[in-house]
Amino acid sequence: MDEQQKKVILSGIQPSGALTLGSYLGAIKNWAELADSYDCYYMMADMHSITVRQNPADLRRRTVEQLAAYIACGLDPQKNTIFVQSHVPAHAQLSWVLNCYTMFGELTRMTQYKMKSEQHSDNINAGLFTYPALMAADILLYQADLVPVGGDQKQHVELTRNIAGRFNGIYGDVFKLPEPYIPAVGARVMSLSTPENKMSKSDPDQNGCVYVMDPPEDIMRKFKRAVTDCETSVRYDPVEKPGVSNLMQIYSVCTGATFAQIEQEFAGRGYGDFKPKVGETVVEMLRPIREETQRLIKDKAYLEAVYKDGAARACSVANKTLRKVYKKVGFVAL
Ligand code: TRP
Repeated sequence: MDEQQKKVILSGIQPSGALTLGSYLGAIKNWAELADSYDCYYMMADMHSITVRQNPADLRRRTVEQLAAYIACGLDPQKNTIFVQSHVPAHAQLSWVLNCYTMFGELTRMTQYKMKSEQHSDNINAGLFTYPALMAADILLYQADLVPVGGDQKQHVELTRNIAGRFNGIYGDVFKLPEPYIPAVGARVMSLSTPENKMSKSDPDQNGCVYVMDPPEDIMRKFKRAVTDCETSVRYDPVEKPGVSNLMQIYSVCTGATFAQIEQEFAGRGYGDFKPKVGETVVEMLRPIREETQRLIKDKAYLEAVYKDGAARACSVANKTLRKVYKKVGFVAL
């Protein structure tokens, strides 16, 4: 397909913790499959991370590790533009402009802001509040058509559309209006210990969260302890049996088996068979990714070359949009 005609995809993950099984199955695994049909941009959203206090050395290390993991998960840096958000100054520059086209009331309605300001009540900073304007800049700079996100980010993509529509309404067609691109239900991975909640690196109960880099014994322990219910049958019912259904989803994504096939496979066998089997399957799926990530982390020169090249490519696209915006709002061209 002609580059010009390809739709643009942009997404990002904050390097504020190690990469989770949820991010892999729910996001990155799908991203890798989009490379041929779309013009794809994926970032390490480090500027978003500092809305919550970070240890600088950890943030730096995790940003590079996340890049290594992206590549190990199958994102080819030749086919995708992979970059570090803070390497592309246009994100900060456009976010300031967009802040002036985002309403206070809109930001107060963001669910994630309400949740995070409760979790971090000692540090409710302005960045935490205006974060959706930065996310809008991330998306609009690349004129993205589609934004693959989890359900929790849908509200931010909708706000991005509203900001873009408002801006276009005043200045003419500057921004493409993006659509959220929510992966198939099967890919929404829930916590193993509280299966009502999404699997998250910020979950205080770390038994519920599996990391891509976890050693096999940790993965097995977390799956063996996974919360289920007081029945014994492996049956898909997300309302009555959220824990078992989550394990079935994970198993289904890993093996390609349907829920009916999984029910069949474990008919007459209890959770004592099922949970370790899911654990083993996840261990084997993650093993090559973990090993490749470890290998790449040691190859600093290669990773640096990837993020330099990514930044250069991202900058050239982003600056084009930024120049247009600056002109529209009345800034004198340098
Ligand atoms: N806000 C997203 C999250 O917390 C990460 C993110 C930042 C993002 N910028 C983005 C996702 C742009 C999609 C598009 O998960």
